[in-house]
Amino acid sequence: MQHIDIYEIMTDTGLIGKSVTVCGWVRTSRDSKNMAFLELNDGTTLGHLQIVIDKRTINDISEFMKLGTSLKVTGELVKSVVAADSVEVNAKEITVLGTCPPEYPLQKKRHTLEYLRSIPALRVRTNTFNAVFRVRSVVSAAIHEYFTSKRFTYVHTPLITASDCEGAGEMFRVTTLGFAPEIKSEDEYDAADFFGRRAALSVSGQLDGEVAAMAFGKIYTFGPSFRAEKSNTQRHVAEFWHVEPEVAFAELPDIMELAQGLIKHIISSVLSKCPQEMKFFDAHFEKGLIDKLTSVRDNDFAVMSYTEAIEKLEQSGKEFKFPVYWGCDLATEHERYISEEICKKPVFLTDYPKEIKSFYMKQNDDGKTVAATDLLVPGVGEIIGGSEREADLDKLLAAMRERKMNLDEYGDYIALRKFGSVPHSGFGLGLERIIMYVTGVSNIRDVILYPRTFGNIY
Ligand code: 4AD
Repeated sequence: MQHIDIYEIMTDTGLIGKSVTVCGWVRTSRDSKNMAFLELNDGTTLGHLQIVIDKRTINDISEFMKLGTSLKVTGELVKSVVAADSVEVNAKEITVLGTCPPEYPLQKKRHTLEYLRSIPALRVRTNTFNAVFRVRSVVSAAIHEYFTSKRFTYVHTPLITASDCEGAGEMFRVTTLGFAPEIKSEDEYDAADFFGRRAALSVSGQLDGEVAAMAFGKIYTFGPSFRAEKSNTQRHVAEFWHVEPEVAFAELPDIMELAQGLIKHIISSVLSKCPQEMKFFDAHFEKGLIDKLTSVRDNDFAVMSYTEAIEKLEQSGKEFKFPVYWGCDLATEHERYISEEICKKPVFLTDYPKEIKSFYMKQNDDGKTVAATDLLVPGVGEIIGGSEREADLDKLLAAMRERKMNLDEYGDYIALRKFGSVPHSGFGLGLERIIMYVTGVSNIRDVILYPRTFGNIY
């Protein structure tokens, strides 16, 4: 279909005075005596293009005025009569591509995000989702730019797996077997299944990422991860996008530096490539967002040990819902207090108690903590989880046995420690969590096309 994107129409001044054809959906319409005005949006920009209709030349306008109708409009592109830096189209010919009845739900200018969640296929047509998804796309591209500029190899790790990376048992089973009353035990069931053994959707590409890092040195994965957590919070979904670099010959401080550089590169990219969208979020979602992100981009993140954070929380005098003590797993309220009130900026917490972290983390010499880090940010809490990996075979096996893990399921992973083991480290960044942070959108359900949450699948 011969037409020009509305983004191009609004930014290419060379088109002014020319005949153009545009396509889009009617976002607003206004009728007056001799004239009618439409605002058209085609999704390529947050801006709407005004279409001016002279009713003496185009007289049957009734179908064009209905919100949600899709149109093809040809006319002259001129400078706007009312706004000097804007353009509009004096329509010569309008074709209806698809009519839209009055029950189209997006009739009001503003709807609550809660209501919009009930119409997922249409909410994407609103300004909020237009802005969120352009930012999401720019962030995804920025992630690839960052790692490829550092010569990381992008690897695709399998989504179907036989091992539980986080050891938390929060996996979705993958099976082709239905209800089978003739099968008498779980072992028999697994053996009769598609792979001949139990399989699940992966919670993280890390274990396979480590295999690749031991061959290619510096790798990253970027794909979906799945968690069958029954937590109905503003920051958990059952299917999320996960960025996981894994680096050979790297210790904990090396990947903290890598993570800080990644977050700063993501922020630089959205500030420079999405100025219109960022102004929108600053105005409607988080006042001061652009200043906040600029400061985060230009300053170092804080670093604090878990032990120090616990002391600071205990001394804060604040009443938390969940008790604070050395050894506790930090809840979102603790994480947010540390980043928002104590540090007032992103903070890497390091050296967590080994009991609350995963088996693969490098055990520190104190015998109590592991070389792990979480990056906590104001407004969201944890956006990154990572660690140095235990490279010592005996220590790794001891940690796995302590957790009563089935070593047979991790044969390849364990073997990495036998064949030229090296210090190595990596982390996982949740794409939706960083989108929440850079947009100020506070519910994860509003930064993903179809959120999958406990008890909810559209
Ligand atoms: O801290 P997590 O569980 O770490 C891992 O999975 C490691 N294997 C990563 C690694 O070292 N390669 O998860 C990492 C990040 C979290 O910080 C969070 O941003 C995101 O993944 N995440 C979720 N995002 C949305 N919904 C969920 N249910 C999430 N669970 C984790």
